[in-house]
Amino acid sequence: MERATTISPSLSQNYLLCPSRAFTTRLHSFSTTRSLSPSSSSSIKVQHSSSSVSSCSINGGTSLTRCNAVLSNSSSSTEVADIDWDNIGFGLKPTDYMYVMKCNLNGEFSEGELQRFGNIEVSPSAGVLNYGQGLFEGMKAYRKQDGKNILLFRPQENATRMRNGAERMCMPAPSVDQFVQAVKATVLANKRWVPPAGKGSLYIRPLLMGTGAVLGLAPAPEYTFLVYVSPVGNYFKEGVAPINLIVESEFHRATPGGTGGVKTIGNYAAVLKAQSIAKSKGYSDVLYLDCVYKRYLEEVSSCNIFIVKDNVISTPEIKGTILPGITRKSIIDVARTQGFKVEERDVTVDELLDADEVFCTGTAVVVSPVGSITHKGKRVSYGEGSFGPVSEKLYTVLTSLQMGLSEDNMNWTVNLS
Ligand code: COI
Repeated sequence: MERATTISPSLSQNYLLCPSRAFTTRLHSFSTTRSLSPSSSSSIKVQHSSSSVSSCSINGGTSLTRCNAVLSNSSSSTEVADIDWDNIGFGLKPTDYMYVMKCNLNGEFSEGELQRFGNIEVSPSAGVLNYGQGLFEGMKAYRKQDGKNILLFRPQENATRMRNGAERMCMPAPSVDQFVQAVKATVLANKRWVPPAGKGSLYIRPLLMGTGAVLGLAPAPEYTFLVYVSPVGNYFKEGVAPINLIVESEFHRATPGGTGGVKTIGNYAAVLKAQSIAKSKGYSDVLYLDCVYKRYLEEVSSCNIFIVKDNVISTPEIKGTILPGITRKSIIDVARTQGFKVEERDVTVDELLDADEVFCTGTAVVVSPVGSITHKGKRVSYGEGSFGPVSEKLYTVLTSLQMGLSEDNMNWTVNLS
C-alpha cells in the first residue's frame, strides 16, 4: 500500500536532518501496527517499515510520512533522547516530526501527514503574516513512571477552544477528532522526546494559520493546521519558586469585544512591550487590569490568576477579555472536589492587598505561586518563598493526575502507549 510521499506544495522539503541530535534512532520504534482510538473513524496507523516509510491514515485517507532521516539502532518503546533532561528549561528543542494538515477552499481540513520537523514556506502575502490570522494552543504530554505510557491532558478541551477561536478569527478549524488524532500522532512520532517521569513534559504546540495569499483585508483563502512539540521543564526561570509580578497601569492586553478571550497570536505580541519593561526591572511578568475601570484583575501575560482569602479561592470570571484557560478550569474543578469554595467573579486589585495566597495557572506554568505583586510602587508579599498551603494542595492534586501518579477520577487523561 505504499505510494510516493506526499508533501504539501506550499511546505518546503527543508527538513532538519537532526544535525544537533545527540544520537540517531529508528524513527518510529513501533514493532507492530498501532491503531490509536480504535473507536474513531480517524484511526492513525504508524507501521514499522524497513524502507523507513510509515503510513499515517487520517480521515480515511492514507499518506506517507517522511522518514528518510538517518536511521540506525532499533529502539525499545521506553527509549528517550540522549539530552540533559535535568536542564531543559522552556525553550524550543527541535524534535523529529511535525504534523501538517491543509484546508481546501471549501473550508474542510482533509488528509494530514507527519513530516520531518523543519521550516515551512508560506507566501509573503499569507494571511497570518499580513493580518495576524493565527491561533495556537498549548498542551503537555507526560511520561508515566513505567517509562512507557504517555498521558495527554484533556486534549478535547484544546480542540474545542481552537474551534471557538477560529470562529472569532474567521478561520475554518479541524474537527475535535481531527485535532486530537493529530496531536496523538505527533506525540507518538516524537515519543523519545517525552521526558523521563519527573523530568518535565513534552510541550505540544498546535497552530492554525491563514497560509493562503491575500492582499486586501479579508480572510485568507487557505489554512494550515500544524502541530509541533518540544520537551520542556519549568516555564519561569524561578522554577517552582514564587514569581514576582507587577500590575500594569499603562498598557492593556484586551478590550471588551476584542480578541482577548481567544488564543490568537496577536494577543501575545501585544504583551511583549509591557513584559520586556517588567523583566528589565526584575519582575517575572505583568498582571493586567481591565481597560475600562482599570480596577479589576484580568490575567498575566501567559497565565490566569487566582487569589485565596480565608480558604475561599477567587479568580476573574470569563467574559471575553481573559483566556478561558484549561488549567484554570481544571484547577477550579479540582479545588471544588477538594472542598474549597471557588468564586469566578470580578476581583479588584485592592483584594491583592490582603490576600493570603496568589497563584497563576496555565499549561506552560502549571500552577505557579506568586511571591509578590507590585502596584503603584507598593509591593505586597505572599508566603515564605514557596507555595502557600492551598496552591500547593491544588498543584499536587492536579500534577499527580496529569503525570499518572494518582487515579484519574475526573477522566481527564488520555493514555498513549
Ligand atoms: C501555554 O500555557 O501553553 C501558553 O500558551 C502560554 C504561552 C505564552 C507559553
